[in-house]
Amino acid sequence: CKKLSSTIQEAPLTSDVAYELADIDWDSLGFALMPTDFMYIMKCSRGQTFSKGELQRYGNIELSPSAGVLNYGQGLFEGLKAYRKQDGNILLFRPEENALRMRMGAERMCMPSPTIEQFVDAVTATVLANKRWVPPPGKGSLYIRPLLMGSGAVLGLAPAPEYTFLIYVSPVGNYFKEGIAPIHLMIDTEVHRATPGGTGGVKTIGNYASVLKAQTAAKAKGFTDVLYLDCVHKKYLEEVSSCNVFVVKGNVISTPSIKGTILPGITRKSIIDVARSQGFQVEERLVAVDELLDADEVFCTGTAVVISPVGSITYHGERISYRNGGIGVVSQQLYSALTRLQMGLTEDKMDWLLEL
Ligand code: COI
Repeated sequence: CKKLSSTIQEAPLTSDVAYELADIDWDSLGFALMPTDFMYIMKCSRGQTFSKGELQRYGNIELSPSAGVLNYGQGLFEGLKAYRKQDGNILLFRPEENALRMRMGAERMCMPSPTIEQFVDAVTATVLANKRWVPPPGKGSLYIRPLLMGSGAVLGLAPAPEYTFLIYVSPVGNYFKEGIAPIHLMIDTEVHRATPGGTGGVKTIGNYASVLKAQTAAKAKGFTDVLYLDCVHKKYLEEVSSCNVFVVKGNVISTPSIKGTILPGITRKSIIDVARSQGFQVEERLVAVDELLDADEVFCTGTAVVISPVGSITYHGERISYRNGGIGVVSQQLYSALTRLQMGLTEDKMDWLLEL
C-alpha cells in the first residue's frame, strides 16, 4: 500500500483519535447524490496543458449555452471510491488507473487531459477536503466522480476552445437496490450500446445517455438492467449499462475481451487478477450468448456496482436462472476478496491501495 507523500498530507489518524463525521444517517446510504463540502476545478485552453487547479465550495457551475459538452457531448467521466479503514485513515483504490483511462478517453474525444500525477493529486485533495463524508467502516464508501468536458463555446462542430476538469464526491451505499442480492437482467436484441470504431471503449458521457431508453423499458418490466449483445453478429455478450459481465463454468471464468466496444473496467481488471490469484482460470475472449445456458454463475463488475451476482437473464422471453436466484459461491468469494482488500482488511499484495 502506497502512502501519500505530497504536501497535503495531514497527521495520520490512529484508532484513539476520533475522526469527524458528517451528521447524516450512515445506515441508509443508497447510490444517490448527497452534496458535500468541496469540489475541485482545473481549466485549460485547447492546445494547452492543465496547470493549476483549486478546491472550491461545492455548488453549481456556470457554462456557456454553447459549451462543447452541452451541444456535442464532448465529455468524459470517471468513477472511483475511497474507503474508511478501522483506524480512521482513508484508502483510495487504484486511482492512477482512472487517470490513465481518462487520458485514453480524452485522446479519443479530442480533449486535453490532466497528467496521472495531477489527477491523483486532485482526487486526493478533494477526498481530504471532504473527509467527514467518507462513511465509517462497513457503511459504504465515498464515490469520487471526476469529469472532463469541453466547457468552451462552439457553434459549428469542432473541439471546444476550453476544457474543465472537475471532481465532486458523494457518500454512497449499494448501487443496485438489491445490494449484494442477485440482479435480474434482460437481453435487448434491438438496442446496442456500442459499435466497432465507435466510443464504447471509453467512458464518454454519451455511452450512458444512449442506454437510458432500453434501461428504463427493462425496469418497467421488472428487470434490474439490460445486458447488451454485439451489434454485428447479435451473438456475443458485451456488457450491462453500467458494468462488465463475467460467466462462470467450473473453474473457468470468462469475460468479453476489450476490443473497442467494451469499457475497460478497473474492477473488471482487478477481479481478473484476484480470480487468477485464487486459482481460477480467467479467459478474456468472445463469449457467446448461448454460453449463458450452461453457465454455473454470472456476475457483473464495476466501480459503483462492485460485484453483483446475476440471479436470472431473460433472452427472447426465456428466463435462465442461476443458483436458484441465490448468490453464487464464486461471486461471493470474489466479492469478499475484493471488498476486504478495498477496505484495508487484507494485505495489499498487489500494491493497489493509496492510503491518505
Ligand atoms: C461506475 O461504476 O463508477 C460508473 O461509472 C457507472 C455509473 C453509471 C455509475
